Amino acid sequence: MAILKIARLGHPAIRAGAKPLSAGEWSSPAFQKFLDDLVETMRDADGVGMAAPQVHIPQQLVAIEVNSQNPRYPGHPEIPLTILLNPQIVSHSSECEEDWEGCLSVPDFRGRVPRWTSLKVRGLDRHGTPVELTANGFFARVIQHELDHLNGKVFLDRLPDLSTLTYLLEYQQYWMKKP
Ligand code: NI
Repeated sequence: MAILKIARLGHPAIRAGAKPLSAGEWSSPAFQKFLDDLVETMRDADGVGMAAPQVHIPQQLVAIEVNSQNPRYPGHPEIPLTILLNPQIVSHSSECEEDWEGCLSVPDFRGRVPRWTSLKVRGLDRHGTPVELTANGFFARVIQHELDHLNGKVFLDRLPDLSTLTYLLEYQQYWMKKP
């Protein structure tokens, strides 16, 4: 496996969006290796999610995984590794909740982003099998964040109040909930 280079805000890949995968693309060994590399890159960077455009690949695919020991997002419930190809949100709560968010492509910042508290997403797993899952809370938040990347959006675009934008160090000093 290989650690891929992460595109940061300003690289055109972050704003370019992504195309759906076509049938059978997921069967190639090269594609499966790319998925493994994406997951490896996410874990190496202590990410809780990563979308293909963040590693310069304009395809509709995301990986999400939360380990409760994650130093960037401590104290969140664990989410097993979830890979979604061509994901679509098919329904969501009317209720939104604001919470802190960061992004590996916008390093060293946190800001408060409103997100739907629950949603249903449809897509394919890494072998092209259709999956549908319901997510709540932090899982729903991470899904919305990652799917935004597929449309060339980052969390900064969703900040209703720019005054919440905070450097990570100051976030940890003044705003992070202490366990
Ligand atoms: Ni991100």
